[in-house]
Amino acid sequence: MNNRDTQAAWEYHDGTKHSYWSIRSNPHFLDWANRPQPFKIYPKLEPILLPRDVPQTGVAALSAISEPGRSSLVDSVPNLKDLARILYFSAGITKQRTSPGGAIYFRAAACTGALYEIELYVVTGDLTGLEAGVYHFNPADVSLRLLRKGDFRGNLAQATAMEPAVAHAPATIICTGTYWRNAWKYQARTYRHFGWDNGTLLANLLAISVASGLPAEIVLGFVDAEVNSILDLDTRREVAVSIVPIGYRSKNLLPAPKQAPALGLETIALSEREVEYPAMFKMHDASSLQSEEEVARWREKHSVPASVPDLGEEVRLHCVREEEQSHETIEQVILRRGSTRAFDGRASITLEQLSTILDCSTRGLPADFLEFPGAQLNDVYLIVHSVLGLRPGAYFFRRERNSLQLLKEGTFRRDAHHLGLEQELPADACADIFFLADLRHTLERYGNRGYRAVQLEAGAIGGRMYLAAYAQRLGATGLTFFDDDVIDFFSPHAKGKSAIFLLAIGKSQKRKSA
Ligand SMILES: Cc1cc2nc3c(=O)[nH]c(=O)nc-3n(C[C@H](O)[C@H](O)[C@H](O)COP(=O)(O)O)c2cc1C
Repeated sequence: MNNRDTQAAWEYHDGTKHSYWSIRSNPHFLDWANRPQPFKIYPKLEPILLPRDVPQTGVAALSAISEPGRSSLVDSVPNLKDLARILYFSAGITKQRTSPGGAIYFRAAACTGALYEIELYVVTGDLTGLEAGVYHFNPADVSLRLLRKGDFRGNLAQATAMEPAVAHAPATIICTGTYWRNAWKYQARTYRHFGWDNGTLLANLLAISVASGLPAEIVLGFVDAEVNSILDLDTRREVAVSIVPIGYRSKNLLPAPKQAPALGLETIALSEREVEYPAMFKMHDASSLQSEEEVARWREKHSVPASVPDLGEEVRLHCVREEEQSHETIEQVILRRGSTRAFDGRASITLEQLSTILDCSTRGLPADFLEFPGAQLNDVYLIVHSVLGLRPGAYFFRRERNSLQLLKEGTFRRDAHHLGLEQELPADACADIFFLADLRHTLERYGNRGYRAVQLEAGAIGGRMYLAAYAQRLGATGLTFFDDDVIDFFSPHAKGKSAIFLLAIGKSQKRKSA
């Protein structure tokens, strides 16, 4: 399969669209007796418990998520407590609830269906408190398990064609996606969810790293087979999605790559039976990079299309003034975050609050697929229902002008209800934020791997929006949508684009007291 043959990404994208009819004609049901385990468990490996007495960073959430966090050239090396903080606030268990299907362990970042298919691994040299090795993070007992002893950072650097942030990193986190854990509910759409759910997790990971004084960056350019083999993954079940180098050492002593033989480590089966969805294997193979040369070529800077100067009526964004902004720490906000289950349809937010969410979240991700700081693959569109200072209607966010361009004025709660898969949440929210991308252009530039990038970028920005909303004591939830109807709604402006992600913002409905 060839990354440049982008028919594969189109087939996957078109084949996994939701529509009014696809939802009604899908006979899929949730087989609770066969529900997958929420954790990857290596029964024969001893846990290395992570420290719980980790000091708080004290950094305000809004400032942690606004930081670009791009690689710095100042030496900064994580210790075990830093790693524990980063892993816990990215993927740790923050709440627990019982449900008819069994206990649900809610995690630090939002995830489709609370199924948590993203696993974290650490590839590290010697750190204070941790020996060099390849480790798996288990949120269930907040521990690491050693998969390979020794320093494998040379293998990882090679797999990324000596990506500078990876080559200089004292430790690197690898995020993987486990197909069945999410496909149990979402079937072949899970490959989109890998990007979304890894993205929301990365929003936390980047913010906590920045707050810990450690640079971190998202790396999507790597030879898939090499990274998967370092982690000893069974690639019909689980594959590497993204790599995040943490910290920086100018004189990084990288060992030469060494043999990483298959380990055959026992893991507990997720379910009695697993169903495979060939469309996802096809999409993954077609977006895999085969060699270091291909990775290096892929990483060459990609130009982004100039935005169309299409000026309608514009409203300038005004953030909440700094002295009035929340100073709640990033850790406190992550612990408090949870997807809003019902919005108060009569509530409003202010233009300043919405502006702060848009501004903090879209200053640019530190990512190897972006051409320059601040570049973005996704465009942001909004349906505004109830924002003081803004007329209800459909808007386009002009990032470069820090303004919202009015596309059509009107009350669109019923449309939002329909577009968000006929759920009440998008209709009762104060604003619905849609991510749309020019997929044709992205795939031309990046090949099929651009599909991974565009989904993951939307998830990461959406994850930052979640945090920015909660930092201001507002509510938020990710949502799914009817793909083509979203494009029709925002057309003619959105003509030719594809719907990628949706987040609703508003105020939680107060629970009625009994
Ligand atoms: C990309 C994405 C899409 C989601 N879609 C929906 C949705 O369509 N409907 C819904 O009620 N919740 C949706 N959610 C919310 C998840 O169900 C929620 O994140 C999960 O149950 C974990 O709970 P928490 O976010 O409160 O920690 C979505 C979340 C994400 C990240």
